[in-house]
Amino acid sequence: MIAPSILSADFANLAAEAKAVSGPGDRRADWLHVDVMDAHFVPNLTLGLPIVESLLKATDIPLDCHLMIEDPGRWAPPYAEAGAHNVTFHAEATDDPLAVARDVRAAGAKAGLSIKPGTALEPYLEVLRGFDTLLIMSVEPGFGGQSFIPEVLDKVRTIRKIIDSQDLRLLVEIDGGINADTIEQAAEAGVDCFVAGSAVYGADDPGAAVAALRRQAAS
Ligand code: DX5
Ligand code: ZN
Repeated sequence: MIAPSILSADFANLAAEAKAVSGPGDRRADWLHVDVMDAHFVPNLTLGLPIVESLLKATDIPLDCHLMIEDPGRWAPPYAEAGAHNVTFHAEATDDPLAVARDVRAAGAKAGLSIKPGTALEPYLEVLRGFDTLLIMSVEPGFGGQSFIPEVLDKVRTIRKIIDSQDLRLLVEIDGGINADTIEQAAEAGVDCFVAGSAVYGADDPGAAVAALRRQAAS
């Protein structure tokens, strides 16, 4: 699956930017990745619930909301209530990820747990049964256009083995620095869903970039 990140899109033309990856055929994104940043959990500020609500009216592509914010217990459920498909929050931002995941699911969305490049996977293995996706960051969260950190692929390989051996229903998503040069190694390690910001919206034809990345991931 390919999830273009609108962080690299034109924020004044989000409806058109969503349309650019809406098809037809393999030019269609599976999810649209929406980076919510609060200038506290990360040193950057992007957008919040009102824009997500507007985007939900502007596109039928499922929204994959990645909350890089403090206090997700308070702020995550409203994104689910609004109609986001996935609501992913950071493990580093809460003491009780399972409780937040329960609230997100009760509000009608899939729940995702995200870990930064320096955060180990092991302490969270126990709680993953309460989640639908694990988002492994392959850059420090906060900005688009950074270089892929290949060391995080060890975490991808570890969770892939666990998912396959224990028959876990969990999607593995990777976010940061995914492009034509890096997507194949991530696919090989066992990623299911690839977030790509600059590689899609920095391209002349975002729809063609989606199709090309998907082809590469499958090759
Ligand atoms: C970074 C965001 C990413 C960002 C990725 O904190 O979570 O989703 O948009 O951008 P690229 O693909 O350019 O690394
Ligand atoms: Zn993201």
